Amino acid sequence: MTLVRARVMDTPDDPFAGGVLRHDEDAGLLVADGVIAARGPYAELRAAHPDEEVLDLRGGVMLPGFVDTHVHFPQVRVIGSLGLPLLEWLDRCALPEECRLAEAAYAEVIAREFVDGLVGAGTTSALVFGSHFAPAVDVLLREVSRVGLRVTAGLVVSDRGLPDALLTTPERAYDESRALARRWHGTGRVRYAVTPRFSYSTTEATLDACAAVLEDEPGTWFTSHVNENPDEVTAVGELFADALHYVGTYDAHGLVGERSVLAHNVHATDDELKLLAGRGAAVAHCATSNSALGSGLFPLRRHVEHGVRVALGSDVGAGTGFSLLKEGLQASFMQALLGAEGVPLTPAHLLFLATRAGALALGLDVGDLGEGRPFDAVWICPEDGDPLDVGLRHAASAEAALSKVFALGTPADVAGVWVAGERL
Ligand code: GUN
Ligand code: ZN
Repeated sequence: MTLVRARVMDTPDDPFAGGVLRHDEDAGLLVADGVIAARGPYAELRAAHPDEEVLDLRGGVMLPGFVDTHVHFPQVRVIGSLGLPLLEWLDRCALPEECRLAEAAYAEVIAREFVDGLVGAGTTSALVFGSHFAPAVDVLLREVSRVGLRVTAGLVVSDRGLPDALLTTPERAYDESRALARRWHGTGRVRYAVTPRFSYSTTEATLDACAAVLEDEPGTWFTSHVNENPDEVTAVGELFADALHYVGTYDAHGLVGERSVLAHNVHATDDELKLLAGRGAAVAHCATSNSALGSGLFPLRRHVEHGVRVALGSDVGAGTGFSLLKEGLQASFMQALLGAEGVPLTPAHLLFLATRAGALALGLDVGDLGEGRPFDAVWICPEDGDPLDVGLRHAASAEAALSKVFALGTPADVAGVWVAGERL
């Protein structure tokens, strides 16, 4: 057992439903077999456990590990291609790079860069868009297993509208996805996600193949993109003339449920929000990506009012980095820009969106640092004299300190990352 001593902040209760920031200036977390066995004031826990080894992490702030609900493995090297709308960005920036993952040796290098990016940003759980190439997905899942992250990921499937090298057939999509799911789902911390890229690049037959994998491999997850960009939404409407709307293209195949996470949903109609809420599906809000691609301002208020679950995604490589602190900050800017239509986001909202909301979206028993949870944590500790260090020393309240973490914190401030008590 280890007694961790730190300034701890977390959001066990949803701030969108009245929950508040939990803050312990000098907390003790007793970690046994990777789980938080007890939590309380450090002095009390020390008195009760005088002989345990102490891990003294005073200075900075300890938060639950971040949960990234939407991030693309093959896109590490395209981060920062700015100024293009979605479909042009895919053609010119993302897809040429994704073709390179046909070569397993290249995929290995990218997998290391990708996993380093996640860990370096303090992300401990992620829902990951894999590659269109099955061997590259194996490479990714071997690497995340080696490092110990909680990752849900799968083979990306498409059978139209993309470069030929990225296309499959419904039969191959089923066979390869199923084989990967059998090999990986439930292995250590890995789970499988059935992953059609988006309806724009997928026929009804391949969506059926996706539904068949979900049914034949019980407990697997579903993820895709939806309602990201107006031209994309129009094109999907033309390709699926019988669908009620974009969400309906997935729902007609039984793909929208409690284990479904759809990224973006910037241009959602009320009918789509009602359907998502009714099905219990979650939406990954990707704020820097929506800004970089000019996709639009996420209608968070309408999601909350309809009862649709929302968490954050970095959407690397359209997103501008792996840090969910940056995503939270950008989400708050965008809600402010929406004026009366936005949701004013407090630091507690941002922390919830970056941690517990993601855990709930992914059905994971993590996301806060309460008793009984696995010790998945990130220690944010800036260098002495850094603006964040100055800010933390002079913040008037815990909320103000947390605000500074979101405003000023970067991967350079991530001083430690743990999953299930293991320091990565
Ligand atoms: N829609 C389909 N593919 C992608 C992708 O790679 N990134 C984003 N942002 N949207 C997509
Ligand atoms: Zn994406």
